[in-house]
Amino acid sequence: MALREIVVDGDPILRKISRPVEKFDSKLATLLDDMAETMYLDNRGIGIAAVQIGILRRIFVVDVGDEHGKLEFINPEIYEREGAQLYLEGCLSCPGKNGYVERPERIRVRAQDRNGEWFDLEAEGLLAICICHEYDHLDGTLFIDKVVELTEEQIAELEAEEEEE
Ligand code: CO
Repeated sequence: MALREIVVDGDPILRKISRPVEKFDSKLATLLDDMAETMYLDNRGIGIAAVQIGILRRIFVVDVGDEHGKLEFINPEIYEREGAQLYLEGCLSCPGKNGYVERPERIRVRAQDRNGEWFDLEAEGLLAICICHEYDHLDGTLFIDKVVELTEEQIAELEAEEEEE
């Protein structure tokens, strides 16, 4: 495994469309392992897309610290979205920035694993947020494109809700 350098906002590659994965080989496995290692370093991130290390392929890895642990998504398709939730997001490619983004409360996604096998997953809460955020990276969208401006009262309300949970 090896650490990879993270591409930061301003680099045009982050705005490009990633291509589907066709070969499920040892090179893909190495890439996935490197992505995870890069994400876990210093507990920096809960998700990383291949484009963030300069690889334009439809791949992302997430681990939001829940019972699912590390999840790998290759050629994913989010095919159901339900409800809405606001969360203060950040991104490894946008250091020092954060902002509230509205995402679905619940999603269904299908994707391939590192062996090319298709799986289906229902996700909600933070996992749904994280998957949607990474999914956006595959089409050149960053969370900063979607930040909603909230009033101080709205932010205080959201923070109180989060403390209750
Ligand atoms: Co990101």
